[in-house]
Amino acid sequence: MILLGVNIDHCATVRQARYRQAAATAGGAVEPDPVALAVMVERAGADGITVHLREDHRHIQERDVWRLRETIATRLNLEMACTPAMTEFALRLRPESVCLVPESREEVTTEGGLDVAGGRDRVAACIDAMNAAGISTSLFIDPDPVQIELAAKLRAPWVELHTGAYANAYFDAPARAAEYGRLAAGAALAHDRGLVVNAGHGVNYVNIAGVRALPHLHELNIGHSIISRALFTGIDEAVREMKRRMNG
Ligand code: PXP
Repeated sequence: MILLGVNIDHCATVRQARYRQAAATAGGAVEPDPVALAVMVERAGADGITVHLREDHRHIQERDVWRLRETIATRLNLEMACTPAMTEFALRLRPESVCLVPESREEVTTEGGLDVAGGRDRVAACIDAMNAAGISTSLFIDPDPVQIELAAKLRAPWVELHTGAYANAYFDAPARAAEYGRLAAGAALAHDRGLVVNAGHGVNYVNIAGVRALPHLHELNIGHSIISRALFTGIDEAVREMKRRMNG
């Protein structure tokens, strides 16, 4: 059984499109509320809730994260940049897991994996702090052997392999086969080094047919496709349909 973490950032994206000033503090009429959505996502069978508190607060706000911490019944996975301020925030929040992602203000979404080698000391400090606090750290990385070996060396318990390149190549058969090969080899290596293998980014109702075949897959984090599908079917059916397609 592959587990499903649902990334609910884009519920907050819709809210921020209208309530840019009010969202962080107002309740009631400010909609859609990502916390209410998270409860429905859990009821539909999701195994965890993922949010990315970005430095520019373009979608999820700090207050959302605290409310989620108090409300959800599954697991909270906080995606964050590897900075001292975010590390300090996570240690106060105590999510079940954090996922370290690269972050730049210019990008539309997280466009590449974390450069663990390039930021080795900062990443190591964050992993150590989380390990000491009993919070699992996941490193969002490309399926690159150098990054995977280093993730294991720095004692990160989990990796999340970036499936964006595979998703982009999906309708180009040779490119898709090449990207699948990289992901499958990365998953095998990570598993061999004792890492829990998660994956995510760009996974949708079509390419899940390929993604689900990856070896050693523990959990997928999926956001945009599920939130988009929910506009047509409602969130309950959107989550259930993805779970059906993940596990057949
Ligand atoms: N995993 C990570 C680490 C991400 O940064 C994102 C995007 O926020 C996702 C998964 C979900 O990607 P998508 O919205 O394309 O499903």
